[in-house]
Amino acid sequence: MKKEVFKAVKVSENVYWVGAIDWSVRDFHGYLTSRGTTYNAYLVLADKITLIDTVKAPFKDELMGRIASIVDPKDIDIIISNHSEMDHSGCLTDVMEMVEPEKVYASGMGVKNLAHHFGPDLAIEAVKDGQTVSLGNMDIVFMETRMLHWPDSMFSYLPGEKLLFSQDGFGMHLASYERFADEIDDSILDYEAAKYFANILMPYAALIPKVAEKIAKAGFEPAVIAPDHGPIWRTSEDIEHILNSYAIWSAQKPEAKAVVVYDTMWNATDEMSRAVCEGLESSGVHVKLMPLKGSHRSDVVTEVLDAGALLVGSPTINNNLFPTLADVLSYLKGLKPKNILGAAFGSYGWSGEAVPQIEKIFEEMKIELGGESVKCQYVPTEEDLVKCHELGAAVGKKVMDSLE
Ligand code: FEO
Repeated sequence: MKKEVFKAVKVSENVYWVGAIDWSVRDFHGYLTSRGTTYNAYLVLADKITLIDTVKAPFKDELMGRIASIVDPKDIDIIISNHSEMDHSGCLTDVMEMVEPEKVYASGMGVKNLAHHFGPDLAIEAVKDGQTVSLGNMDIVFMETRMLHWPDSMFSYLPGEKLLFSQDGFGMHLASYERFADEIDDSILDYEAAKYFANILMPYAALIPKVAEKIAKAGFEPAVIAPDHGPIWRTSEDIEHILNSYAIWSAQKPEAKAVVVYDTMWNATDEMSRAVCEGLESSGVHVKLMPLKGSHRSDVVTEVLDAGALLVGSPTINNNLFPTLADVLSYLKGLKPKNILGAAFGSYGWSGEAVPQIEKIFEEMKIELGGESVKCQYVPTEEDLVKCHELGAAVGKKVMDSLE
């Protein structure tokens, strides 16, 4: 059980963190997890001892060791699966076999999705939105949060401890021995929480105010928010801050900021991008230039979250968009950013398909162009660079005007 190695961490009077820390993961389905992550699971020491979520399969021993440091895992009566994605359910069936719980609960969609993952014969009971289940000396209440970010997602709330188990919501990919947000540098928390929101929750941003309303209507007043990744929020200041951040990010209200993302073959598009940036800067917007030789798609998306414009520069290679730009734009299209202007530029040799291809992708994404695209043949002339500057200035002005 490794109980002499791994220890549970007390979260509130009757709740312990029993998750796992993954220091080495760097790819989370296409998302660069530069700081690793945690898979959080929680043990509620009620009359009916309850485990909330499990962990990614290779971390089962760490989970079981932390559980065993406070109770015999065989004493667990109930397991709750708030979310069926494999980072939280990967060892669920193994844990069920070891623990032989009286009950396993998931949302209705959770029961279906867990059957898709592990087969139809699992003894898992569906709970309804708003249903309360007694754990003996305390209750737990379930709240469906469909499509935040899977159809099965739900929150669980312990009214007695004012503790909200929020699965992926309010989480971040951040490995640390500090279990609580108030023990970690604010700038790291802000960046990683924004990155998580941008890369995981952005397509469903419109649902977030509805969940906030639902929480208020249900009378949940969490004093602790315990997500399935990253640190736990336990101070009123931190809880207010993360709730406010979610309100801002879900509105996708742009700031005076533009992101320029580009790649280059023989430095022509690189030169154009710098002229575009000078034009943007002259309009007063904050500029973030992201060369794709060194910027990961998930970091680009993080910068796009609060930007008013995205300017994309691509050379044409073999009658096509440069592959790194195709990657970023395909990823970004799925994340459905809102309230952002687009612009395209790039160098070509003899045909120049990249720029119209970028324009077409923007059209498919319902992103309006903020200025006239610029193409140049082989190497930009002074006149081409002036056009790039003008493009940046025009887009920047539109961003600034939209903020007034
Ligand atoms: Fe952390 Fe959607 O799984």
